[in-house]
Amino acid sequence: MYFKNLQIIFSFIICVSLVLSSPIEIQEETTESGSIQQLEPTEELQVVNDFLKITEFRGDDGIDSLLKVKGFNNDIEFINYMLKFHGYQNDTTFFINNENMACSAFQTPNESGDGFYFGKNFDFFGSNTVILTNYPDNSYSSISTVNTNFIGWIADLLTYEDLIRNYIFNQTVSLSIPDDILRIISLYTPVDGLNEKGLSISVNMLPDVEIVEQNVENNYNLTTLPIVRVLLDKAANVDEALEILKKTNYHPSFGINIHYLISDSNGKAVSVEYYEDKMMITETKVMTNHYLAEGMNNLGQYEEDKRLEIIEAMMSENPNMNAENVRDTLKASSQGMYTQWSIVYDQKNLEATYYLRSNFEQGYNIKLNIDKDNDYSDSDDETITISVDDDEIIGEDSADDNSDDEKTEVEYDN
Ligand SMILES: *[C@@H]1O[C@H](CO)[C@@H](O)[C@H](O)[C@H]1NC(C)=O
Ligand SMILES: *[C@@H]1O[C@H](CO)[C@@H](O)[C@H](O)[C@H]1NC(C)=O
Ligand SMILES: *[C@@H]1O[C@H](CO)[C@@H](O)[C@H](O)[C@H]1NC(C)=O
Ligand SMILES: *[C@@H]1O[C@H](CO)[C@@H](O)[C@H](O)[C@H]1NC(C)=O
Repeated sequence: MYFKNLQIIFSFIICVSLVLSSPIEIQEETTESGSIQQLEPTEELQVVNDFLKITEFRGDDGIDSLLKVKGFNNDIEFINYMLKFHGYQNDTTFFINNENMACSAFQTPNESGDGFYFGKNFDFFGSNTVILTNYPDNSYSSISTVNTNFIGWIADLLTYEDLIRNYIFNQTVSLSIPDDILRIISLYTPVDGLNEKGLSISVNMLPDVEIVEQNVENNYNLTTLPIVRVLLDKAANVDEALEILKKTNYHPSFGINIHYLISDSNGKAVSVEYYEDKMMITETKVMTNHYLAEGMNNLGQYEEDKRLEIIEAMMSENPNMNAENVRDTLKASSQGMYTQWSIVYDQKNLEATYYLRSNFEQGYNIKLNIDKDNDYSDSDDETITISVDDDEIIGEDSADDNSDDEKTEVEYDN
């Protein structure tokens, strides 16, 4: 049942451009260490400046439906499913090409030690950034960041195999994505985020290894960036995030290997990495772009790359940081023109301050406004049952669900 098709979508572009041309209202606050603009996202994709847009989503974001069908092992089918959920037909091909991003991320206690910050640099080139606040009906609210250059669109309807062939051997021309579709796909392609429980996640690149393959029967099948959306929606802390990941087959988009830094408002922080068919969990507060799990011998670490050492040095100099210390640590570990955005996520006060393109004097602040109409945040008990543990819901259509056995195929460090 299709409600819209792409021809109708094209006619939306005009309205969207009108919306875009209306300037966003900005409150500015100047402090001695620079100025911070307060951003208020709305449903439209609003332009903040040449590299930054913001938007908000409210309603059913489809993650419960996705988990019910157990997800997809490739981005084409995943995005098709989500677009269809939002009423769009799939006679073209959308894909995610999260290539080559280098990033740094770390978690630190604040000055009194009872709150935590999560800092993140996203290092790439020429990124068009979308900050998206999500207030889903039956999941946790969150702030997340998207590099829209990772979202591709080809006019033909391709299978994943065809896409890889076309993309690699036959540079198929990509189309420019209409804003309303870009906004929907942005929901599912966060490279970092913070949810209303203070759970923070960063996706960081790893060196190429043999293609990671996980195929545990009856696990969810999820790809690199959609995993972040599922965790932001469904996990209140690191342990809940790991429970979900243990029931998930990780499928790296285009075979590009990444790892996740996941941290919570109690100060727990872990890396989750994959090698061959194994998932490895390591307690760590800092992550850049090499393996951290024991036994992986820092695979992917280059001697010239001092980012991890810089961050660790600043963390030991300042075991308790304020927001300026976090910003300065991001500045010290940034890669000049390659750093596309730097974020100070405040995991207790649920806000994010962004610095774009290494301009650390100009911040953009977004607050998660969770006292708006959202029942999910008030019902902690339901959370886990609906999303993670409830085989009655998730495994409805699978009689042979045996999650205990599944877990033995996953390996953990620590
Ligand atoms: C598009 O949707 C149809 C119908 O649901 C499905 O059979 C097909 O696999 C989808 N195409 C791709 C490339 O995912
Ligand atoms: C640290 O975070 C907690 C929780 O938000 C807050 O109550 C406290 O005031 C913060 N401490 C400082 C020194 O900012
Ligand atoms: C390259 O792409 C074009 C357009 O999609 C297609 O007609 C052609 O068959 C492709 N060539 C190869 C070698 O895949
Ligand atoms: C998950 O993906 C694998 C292939 O990667 C497939 O064999 C399996 O059937 C999928 N599981 C579900 C529940 O769709």
